[in-house]
Amino acid sequence: MRTRIIGTGSCLPETVVTNEDLSQIMDTSDEWISSRTGIRERRLVKEETTASLSVTAAKRAMENAGVSAQEIDLIIVGTITGDYVTPSTACEVQAALGADRAAAFDINAACSGFMFALHTADAYLKTGMYKTALILGAETLSKIMDWSDRSTCVLFGDGAGAAVVRSDEVGLLAYDQGSDGTRGMVLTCRNRKNNNPLVQNPTDFSYTQMDGQEVYKFAVTTVPKSIKKVIAQAGLTIDDIDYFALHQANIRIIQSVAKRLGVSEDKFPTSLDHCGNISAASVPILLDEINRKGLIKPGMKIVLSGFGGGLTWGSAVIEV
Ligand code: COA
Repeated sequence: MRTRIIGTGSCLPETVVTNEDLSQIMDTSDEWISSRTGIRERRLVKEETTASLSVTAAKRAMENAGVSAQEIDLIIVGTITGDYVTPSTACEVQAALGADRAAAFDINAACSGFMFALHTADAYLKTGMYKTALILGAETLSKIMDWSDRSTCVLFGDGAGAAVVRSDEVGLLAYDQGSDGTRGMVLTCRNRKNNNPLVQNPTDFSYTQMDGQEVYKFAVTTVPKSIKKVIAQAGLTIDDIDYFALHQANIRIIQSVAKRLGVSEDKFPTSLDHCGNISAASVPILLDEINRKGLIKPGMKIVLSGFGGGLTWGSAVIEV
């Protein structure tokens, strides 16, 4: 049996912030941001939370799959921006859905979070322990941005994407995931420092810091290798793949991956122009967008690939 994605959903915050809007509050321009990244606008939260976006995305995915809350055995959310340290976002989603049979937990694999959630759900489903899982990538990254650091804050946005997966005849054909903690410090957001009667630290929260060029080099070398690996594992060739749904970090990364694979950019759908980089939520939001546009037909083979903080990466070939 294979783990099959049977429904998708997504939710973006209401408020659109364009590059032009950002140029009113910092020294940047639409020309700089769009020419280097392909991003034109992003959505940022006002009242929405990671959990509220997740719940809406989850309901849409469940409706798309025709699955009720009582049928869900497992909920996994890939996120680095949960609203609470505890409860997890997955537990908040479980409560809001009334999915009281489900076990629920979060995964921190940064921008690879949805891919790690998919692979984890697959492992559980393969044991026969669970039959139906709800997996999400959800972020409110805007709260961990330093809005005075123009080189980083312009890249990111907020949102949530979800998928319902179930054991079936077709589905996940192959996957690859990996981590390289030795390079983790190129993309960081520090948690609270030690603070107790022995060690006094003022309560301070740090913001996202990134060495953009190092992250870029990591992505354009690791992602093509990971994609080639999963395609070979699935017993397929590059030409058998209908779409490559990649993490939406930067159009230049996507173009470079397409070139290194020798594949037309037409096979790489994008959402980054209107979403920016939403870390773990990028892949499921993109998948939902192409699903709802009717671009996914039965029998198609799609590569999914996430990569980012940790450093981490995860790729999969799915048959839909
Ligand atoms: N607006 C205008 N100018 C900006 C700017 C902004 N938002 N951000 C940086 N600059 C300036 C810099 O200050 C620098 O100016 P200087 O030459 O006078 O010092 C110049 O633009 C070039 O900066 P640099 O950081 O070298 O740009 P870059 O060409 O490397 O592009 C990124 C920066 C972030 C777009 C690029 O490195 C990148 O996409 N990296 C991958 C990041 C990523 O995708 N991370 C997430 C992965 S999960």
